[in-house]
Amino acid sequence: MTVLLSNTPADIEEAAHLLRQGGLVSFATETVYGLGGNARDDRAVAGIFEAKGRPRFNPLIVHLPHAEAAEEEVRFSATARDLAERFWPGPLTLVLPKREASNVSLLCSAGLDSLAVRVPAPETARELLRLAGCPVAAPSANRAGRISPTRAEHVMNELSGRIDAVLDDGPCPVGVESTVVSLTGEHPVLLRPGGLEREELESALGVPLALPAAEDPLASPGMLKSHYAPDARIRLDVLAPKPGEAYLGFGKQTRDAPEGSFNLSPSGDLKEAAANLFAALRELDKPGISGIAVAPIPLDGLGQAINDRLQRAAAPREI
Ligand code: TXA
Ligand code: MG
Repeated sequence: MTVLLSNTPADIEEAAHLLRQGGLVSFATETVYGLGGNARDDRAVAGIFEAKGRPRFNPLIVHLPHAEAAEEEVRFSATARDLAERFWPGPLTLVLPKREASNVSLLCSAGLDSLAVRVPAPETARELLRLAGCPVAAPSANRAGRISPTRAEHVMNELSGRIDAVLDDGPCPVGVESTVVSLTGEHPVLLRPGGLEREELESALGVPLALPAAEDPLASPGMLKSHYAPDARIRLDVLAPKPGEAYLGFGKQTRDAPEGSFNLSPSGDLKEAAANLFAALRELDKPGISGIAVAPIPLDGLGQAINDRLQRAAAPREI
């Protein structure tokens, strides 16, 4: 049985209690809903993979209530500290060298000697993490290969009966996952574009972010090519959808939108588009359509993360 909890103090305490007991609780972050488990508890972390039906043990992000708690698990460089001060709490994940003394489950780091850490923004999430008193491993709370959930009902639809609770804190304001940056090497590497704009990071760093070496599968093991897949086939950069296709628009439409279409942001605002993206794909992904056609979306700011997720949704399916 999966309980639906609300963001009242009593329910947040109940969710924290479940985490302390080794239970699995989905909670809202500013980006997407996470599927949380006590990161120090091997059984809980294994349970996360099982509940999601993940085909392989990708490393997981460990969530903490503040930077001081993160410092207990990983070693911060001056650059890392600077980014944490500027952008936490917020949609930035830092991959840093794991401390010898950290007793986070090896399943979280998938055998790597680095660990991904982040401090999520919502007050409810941080209260939950404070009360739980342990680092919380949390991938997005969707079944493997599916679209990330941005509302409690999305999680209930996919994981009800497989996890202990969903803590409803309303829709996620950012709507795409956190930006993942590795600070384990000589240069900062952008492992995944996400809710924190690349431009903002680079201006804070004062240097451009490097991209992961294509031949290095460990650089970002969670980045399966096909991911975030709805059932319908997706076509990108489409100005004129075919009959039978649902249309995911962006900005001012030059022609009448077909029936059942959705505009990510009529005013062309990329923040609004990111916040709507996953809910819109779920909404359009109904039986009876021949596919989903997607309007061109610019590549600046959050457009990078949006286009990254759409390309994965459109890629040939591998799982
Ligand atoms: O916004 C988010 O980041 C959400 C919310 C719930 O916080 N979480 C999320 O987790 O998207 P997940 O597991 O779906 O994605 C984790 C990403 C993957 O791309 C994974 O490869 C990368 O982080 N990652 C985690 N640990 C890593 C490590 N030690 N080295 C390299 N990449 C790592
Ligand atoms: Mg995910």
